[in-house]
Amino acid sequence: MQKILEKITDIMTSAFEKAGYGAEYGKVSVSNRPDLCDFQCNGAMAAAKAFKKAPIQIANEIVEPLKENVAFESIEAVMPGFINIKIADAFLAEHLTGMKNSEKFGLEKPEKVKTIVVDYGGANVAKPLHVGHLRPAVIGESVKRICKYMGHNVIGDAHLGDWGLQMGEVIEELRLRKPDLPYFDPDFKGEFPKEAPFTISDLEEIYPAASARMKEDDDFAVKCHEATVRYQKRERGYAELGQHIINVSKVDLKRNYDNLDVHFELWKGESDADPYVKDMVDAMVKSGLAFESQGALVVDIREEGDKKEYPPCIIRKSDGAAIYETTDLATLVQREQDYKPDMVIYVVDKRQELHFIQVFRTAKKAGIVPADTDLRFIGNGTVNGKDNKPFKTRDGGTLRLEALIKMVNDAVYDKIMESREESPEDAAKTAKIVGLAALKYGDLSNQATKDYIFDTDKFTSFEGNTGPYILYTIVRIKSILNKYREKFGEPGELSEIKAPSGTSEKNLMLKISSFHDMLENAFKDTAPHVVCRFVYELADAFNGFYHDTKILTEEDKEKREGWIALLELTKGLLECGIDLLGFSAPDRM
Ligand code: ARG
Repeated sequence: MQKILEKITDIMTSAFEKAGYGAEYGKVSVSNRPDLCDFQCNGAMAAAKAFKKAPIQIANEIVEPLKENVAFESIEAVMPGFINIKIADAFLAEHLTGMKNSEKFGLEKPEKVKTIVVDYGGANVAKPLHVGHLRPAVIGESVKRICKYMGHNVIGDAHLGDWGLQMGEVIEELRLRKPDLPYFDPDFKGEFPKEAPFTISDLEEIYPAASARMKEDDDFAVKCHEATVRYQKRERGYAELGQHIINVSKVDLKRNYDNLDVHFELWKGESDADPYVKDMVDAMVKSGLAFESQGALVVDIREEGDKKEYPPCIIRKSDGAAIYETTDLATLVQREQDYKPDMVIYVVDKRQELHFIQVFRTAKKAGIVPADTDLRFIGNGTVNGKDNKPFKTRDGGTLRLEALIKMVNDAVYDKIMESREESPEDAAKTAKIVGLAALKYGDLSNQATKDYIFDTDKFTSFEGNTGPYILYTIVRIKSILNKYREKFGEPGELSEIKAPSGTSEKNLMLKISSFHDMLENAFKDTAPHVVCRFVYELADAFNGFYHDTKILTEEDKEKREGWIALLELTKGLLECGIDLLGFSAPDRM
């Protein structure tokens, strides 16, 4: 169905056209003075310049024939030439009834369905997830859900880091401990065991031990680098062992991401891009795009109009090793081959911005992706402690993501136990749901690129701009609806939303009507914080209405049913909103 802004814009454009000024002046926006009007149109100001007339004269001309329009409660021209519009209550109610009774609240399918790859999460195998992995996972998941909801074909890829030095470290440490494993015997021709020679708990101990050893033992460090190269060169035993590291690690990563309600369609890794590297590099050399510089193979990425000096993109280091830029480029070759994406979105720490500028420019110059492919980098800010520096544990170490989640869940659990008599099991279940909302909302309500301070007390509060507050509002609506059913039975399926009877009700209805435009903006800017703002304002508008209205004791059946329909719609939108953010509401809290 048409969005409310489109409906009003249509009326205004045809008015401007009829008066001989042209449709382009009829653009309408949500009023930034809600005390004066709901919507405004500033087209007369622009038309005045083009037609050399006083703006107020044009505004009056436009407004006059629209005074009787059923869509408007009032429409007036005000100095120096603005048009202020108050929407008619019945018109608004009818629009909301339409939303309530349509699939996806009447959201239209996109004109062109895009294929979008979202590269997010940023996990590296063999290493535990830490606080730095929170944002790429949480923001990426939400961005993915927003794109999907808009009707696009979206593929989320974990793009595991499985090509780096940590692989050589783990392999070399294993060799020290179990030198007799067949993987290390170059003459071994038999079949390797199916079972990995380590468990996930072994791995959790092996990697830090290897890292510590690297720092103290130069000889070991050299061997780790060598093992990495042998792994990257796909030496049989090393490749096999590497695959075991990936497989064992993946199980654990999946469990962790499941806990965050983050789910990838693809679990590809950097290693999957390797088969594409050779041809890609050869082509770049052949075309002259890549050239030797100080022993390395590089691509000059500078462009006219650059305000900064950008270093070249290194494709191959002097020691022959492929690097981060190369695997990301080869991954684009692979994605182009498999999906031909219209858009590839990367949600990664903003400190990697230069890397992505280099990769994007090289990919376009080399023709790896078509010129119009939208390659988009969402560089996320850091999660900071109260000292406004990247979050650390008390002893200065890196905080594991699991520990961070537990911290939030514990805080919510305490709160629930404090205020209610609930069994510890039920409280723990609820705490998990509410804790996730606290964590994700605390993160997503900040603009992705900004750093934020992780404040458990604030995030878990049931009041204010928090996840738990949104959930609390949904739970409240659920409880009213349950009471209503107990008292009056099932409301009619298609019950109509009635014209508002007061200011707070109209506020709620106007907020609801902005859903589609909000979504479009969230999608255009790939910005989950826009959805956060909407659900918060919607929850607030609902609570204002609830405060002013005795819903269940209303005698007038029609009125009561209209409100119930309004509640159903509000609940539906809040639930849709939090689903786009990546969390859900409990039945009670
Ligand atoms: N694993 C990388 C890291 O830990 C992040 C990967 C981001 N995605 C990408 N396509 N480069 O820094």
